[in-house]
Amino acid sequence: MTTEAKYLKDYQRPDFLIPETELFFNLDDEKTLVRSKLNVERNGSHNRPLVLDCQVKQVLSVAIDGVMVEFKVGQEQLFVDVQQQVFELEIEVIVDPINNTALEGLYKSAGVFCTQCEAESFRRITPYLDRPDVLSVFTVTIFADAELYPHMLSNGNLVDSGVVSEDDETNQQISWVKWHDPHPKPSYLFALVAGDFDLLTDEFVTHSGRKVDLELFVDKGNLHLGHHAMASLIKSMAWDEQRYGLEYDLDKYMVVAVDFFNMGAMENKGLNVFNSKYVLADLNTATDPDYHGIEAVIGHEYFHNWTGNRVTCRDWFQLSLKEGLTVFRDQQFSADMGSEVLERISHANIIRTMQFAEDAGPMAHPIRPEKVIEMNNFYTVTVYDKGAEVIRMMHSLLGESGFRAGMDLYFKRHDGTAVTCDDFVSAMADANNKDLTQFQNWYSQAGTPSVVVTERKTDKGIELTLSQSLPTRPPEEQHKPLVIPVKYELIANEGGQSLERGTIIFNQRKQTFTFDCSVPATLVLFENFSAPVKVQRKLNQAQLIHIVKYATDEFCRWDSMQSLWLQQINGKSDDSQGLIDVIEYLINNDDIAPSIKAELLTLPNYTSIAETFDVIDPAHILTVKTAITQEVIASLFPAFIRLLSGLKNIEDGYVQSHVAQRRLKHVLLTYLSYSDHAEVEDIIRQVYLNSTNMTEKVSALEAARVYSSDLLEQLLAKMDAEFKGNVLVFDKMTSAIARLPVNDVYQKMQLWSEHALFSDKNPNRIRSLYGAFVMQNPEQFHDDSGKGYQFLTQLLKKLDKLNPQLASRMISPLLSWKRYEPTRSALMKQQLDELNGLDLSKDLFEKVSSALG
Ligand code: TRP
Ligand code: ZN
Repeated sequence: MTTEAKYLKDYQRPDFLIPETELFFNLDDEKTLVRSKLNVERNGSHNRPLVLDCQVKQVLSVAIDGVMVEFKVGQEQLFVDVQQQVFELEIEVIVDPINNTALEGLYKSAGVFCTQCEAESFRRITPYLDRPDVLSVFTVTIFADAELYPHMLSNGNLVDSGVVSEDDETNQQISWVKWHDPHPKPSYLFALVAGDFDLLTDEFVTHSGRKVDLELFVDKGNLHLGHHAMASLIKSMAWDEQRYGLEYDLDKYMVVAVDFFNMGAMENKGLNVFNSKYVLADLNTATDPDYHGIEAVIGHEYFHNWTGNRVTCRDWFQLSLKEGLTVFRDQQFSADMGSEVLERISHANIIRTMQFAEDAGPMAHPIRPEKVIEMNNFYTVTVYDKGAEVIRMMHSLLGESGFRAGMDLYFKRHDGTAVTCDDFVSAMADANNKDLTQFQNWYSQAGTPSVVVTERKTDKGIELTLSQSLPTRPPEEQHKPLVIPVKYELIANEGGQSLERGTIIFNQRKQTFTFDCSVPATLVLFENFSAPVKVQRKLNQAQLIHIVKYATDEFCRWDSMQSLWLQQINGKSDDSQGLIDVIEYLINNDDIAPSIKAELLTLPNYTSIAETFDVIDPAHILTVKTAITQEVIASLFPAFIRLLSGLKNIEDGYVQSHVAQRRLKHVLLTYLSYSDHAEVEDIIRQVYLNSTNMTEKVSALEAARVYSSDLLEQLLAKMDAEFKGNVLVFDKMTSAIARLPVNDVYQKMQLWSEHALFSDKNPNRIRSLYGAFVMQNPEQFHDDSGKGYQFLTQLLKKLDKLNPQLASRMISPLLSWKRYEPTRSALMKQQLDELNGLDLSKDLFEKVSSALG
């Protein structure tokens, strides 16, 4: 294993190109034979040797133009001595799918052969120039037992198939299929799947009248759970045509749902592989957020067909080229299918919790990283979600039609090639005749920008001074000022009417803007979360309440409610009555739509509160948050009960108006769970018992978890009996258990890990149980005994051997050890020191060493 870093500045064009790739697979559990036949040509005139990326179990043979040649296997590389300019390279290797618990490359799990090649795992299948700027036309032949694997799939079109022979002794019949993908693609987009599935089919007729066959492969018996995913796919295809004029480009689009998968899903050309969690749903077993997640991920992978596959990345440092842009597109899609403001609130929450934490920690990186040891570690909220915010800011600067013109030019220039983030920004700039040079600083600077706001009343109106800095970054990095679009509104202090709305461009270290107005007014800033920055602004309680009541932008109304809570929790205001009054006003105001009311009433979550402290003391935060919530519910109990009683019989079904009511019900139950009223227990139990959908059942579980662990366990016993054998429901149960704020949570997790449905080789099971504990049980994980930290270390030691990618994702809470108060900080560091002494995967090594470095 090499733990050497690679640098963006060292990029060089590939020495060889591979215009055509032919692969042959003889599928076998432990000894799959993979043969490759590559048309290789020297890229330019040079006489450097051929060095292929290679991480296979065994290389059997190498031939050039039909003649066997010597080869050398080095550290993750295969060296072949070759003089020719153009030649045919044939390689035979053996791989071991059944023992591949890392789930990278070719693996077999739950009876299904499946691949995951992004970012650098194609080399675990066959030696190759495994880099995204080598594009090749793939032809793939798969041989396997026809009975065990009736469906054998790869990218593109099925061009031929047949039967090899029948073995007289075993009666085993080997058949073969041949797939051809006419679109040149990098190796990371290759996919192969073989297994026994049920098949849901539909079709889509494109804008230009071509018929596309849609095929969704799910585990036997799960066909009825595929309809929402299929409907989402059809919506995605129609949306990309309408909004971007982008049509699908093959005759077939396949989606396979698998149970063992490290991430959400993968956009392999024509053959998406999905974590089954982002495909399977029905009203009995999936919540509204599950339905939403499926639509968003199906959209995301589909949108990659243009932003990622047709135009791909030159190198992995450019990952945000495809991921930031595709997240932005899936956010637009979700907003168009549902509600823009709800999307913005949920994405702002992701940025303010996970992304700000990443930016403030040892793994901080710009959306285009410059140094990488293990690429898997850079599939981050920074590259994805901050990357999407950067695209969104370009959209704000250029407007909808300017942005579309930039996209059109981007495809016109770069279709079929592998490009950089700079190429994308240039297309945006050129199509709009704009200079985006300064804007590009967003691509090269890590850290969360802090914007300090000061305001002054003048005779004419308001003078606003903004100043920007990157406080979490070392000064020697010498930052350049960023271009920050600030959407604003001016509302009258008397009556609250809107006086003016617009966007100011804040692009200097310190800048003053003046707003003329004849009446006293309040500025609403960063409407719709117009930039991924931390805003430092001193607004008093009355000003915040004024914004909650009168701002046009619903995002800012929500944001001001969050600020009101934070003022209380941070001890910056001791007047809790103001908060209580505005909550009462919201509860009783029938003019506010349920969807907005639910958001305005939502308590800030632990992580978003913690992120606002310079030194984090979890116990303090939790105590204060609980005390204030208890005070609110104690004063407003009857009002909450009244509003809740109007939400008894909500119609089932994933329909926006019903979703909104269920969400409001969930928020009200959360408040009630902090109450000590005896009737609360029965209210929660009745919600569980009377609901005929999973959303309300989970709301009841959540409330029970806070109210009493006995109640939670009673409800879980019912659920376990009702949904026997359903793994996706099982995951909801384990994640509730793991977040119980009680001392014996360890024994409870132990018991659930012995359940027949649990498996420590399945990432969904691990994430639901242990991931929930580590990331969402601050009471116990951050207990000042250090027990939670030790538990994580023991888990990581085991997991790192089985699945490094998964282990590496679970370590994140330990990485920010420097931000905690001294006792916890020392305890966390101890665990990192212990891990540092071990033989770690590249993935964990990179994080542990940077956290200690
Ligand atoms: N490209 C995938 C997406 O954004 C992400 C992904 C899926 C991935 N599986 C992976 C990234 C494994 C790294 C490793 O949808
Ligand atoms: Zn993606």
